Formats: sequence, structure tokens, C-alpha cells
Amino acid sequence: MPLHLITRLIFATQPFYMEELTDVKNILRLELPTDPRWVNLTTISLEDILTDHAYCEQKAATSCISLIQRYPEKEKMVEELAPIVTEEWGHFRQVLAELNKRNLKLGRQRKDAYVNKLLEFQTRGGSEADRFLDKLLFCALIEARSCERFKRLSEGLEDPYFRNFYRKFMESEAGHYTLFIKLADHYVPKEQVRKRWREWLAYEAEIIRGLEVRGDRIH
Ligand SMILES: [Fe+2]
Ligand SMILES: [Fe+2]
Repeated sequence: MPLHLITRLIFATQPFYMEELTDVKNILRLELPTDPRWVNLTTISLEDILTDHAYCEQKAATSCISLIQRYPEKEKMVEELAPIVTEEWGHFRQVLAELNKRNLKLGRQRKDAYVNKLLEFQTRGGSEADRFLDKLLFCALIEARSCERFKRLSEGLEDPYFRNFYRKFMESEAGHYTLFIKLADHYVPKEQVRKRWREWLAYEAEIIRGLEVRGDRIH
């Protein structure tokens, strides 16, 4: 699927239809857009936002590694996620380079309330297939929200350098989001994926609603 369609689907606020996308219609949309104040808040401390961003990339790489370790028999998933580990770690290094270039320091990793609350939604009961699906959708959702945040930064910041910097991340995370949904569709009946995805979207919107809007974090 072309990137501009992916991003359009993630960010669309009005119902939107294209024939070739019928089966993914309505599933991609985040329910709550980011608070418009957030972009300005991120400019308060470049060191803080870049540190947080770096750890988001590290966690994305770690999540892919964990999936591979846990489900080695899912060959397609292993094949598809192995290069994503490299890509996410490359993102970590890019952010680290931005810090170094400016004589800023990579700080300590903070407690990630957003991710921790999302983790609580992963089913602990149910079948192995249900748990697997939740792990994929958990990753898909973080990619989708990260993509949305990077889009806000790429459009809302004044500095053209950083607009471009975040735009590249936005494009990359959009591709990852799509990959996790495609993997879910590969292993689990589509209707089940769509149903559970809607539940995740509703839950995620509640998390976003309840979190303080802070400029020192990506989520
Ligand atoms: Fe990334
Ligand atoms: Fe990603």
C-alpha cells in the first residue's frame, strides 16, 4: 500500500473509502488526535525529547526481538521482523547522533506510563493465539501513535531541519504499523483482528485522554 494512503488512513478523521482498501477500511484510525499543545511543549528541552525518542526506538527493537524469541516457529513473522530490528536500532543510532552533534546527553530511561498501560490490556487468559494477536496489535498501535506524533512534529515545528527529521521517522513507523497488521491478518482470521483492533483503539484513546500532556516524551 502506498505510504500516502497509509498515513491518510491513520490520520483520517472522516470516513474514507477506496475500493482496494475495503478490508482495512475503518480499522486504522486512531480515535483521539494528539493534543495540539504537545508540539510546542516538545521544544522546551531537545535533550529530553530526543532521549525519550531514543528509548522508544530501543523498545521497538526490543519488542521485535522478543517476538522472534517467543515465536521462532512463525517463520514469516521472523523473516519480516528481523530487518525491522535493524531498522529500529538504526533509528536509535540516528537519534543518538542528533544528541551527540549538539553536545546533549542521552539521559536515563523514564517510566513509560503509556506503554505500561497498553501492556495491561494484553490478554493474559485466552488461547495462545489470542495472546499472540494481542502482542502484534500492541506493537501496531505503538507504531501508529508514534507515526501520528512524528507527523505532528513534522508539520508543526518551525525548524525545517527537524520537520524533515521527524518526517522520515513518520514514514518508517507507518510502514511498521502496516506490517504488524498484515502479520496479524496472516496468522489470525481477519474478522477477529478487526474486532480486537477496535477494542485496542478504544482503550488507547482512553489512555491518551488520561495522560498528562508533556513535552519531554513522545507518548
Ligand atoms: Fe522506529
Ligand atoms: Fe517502528
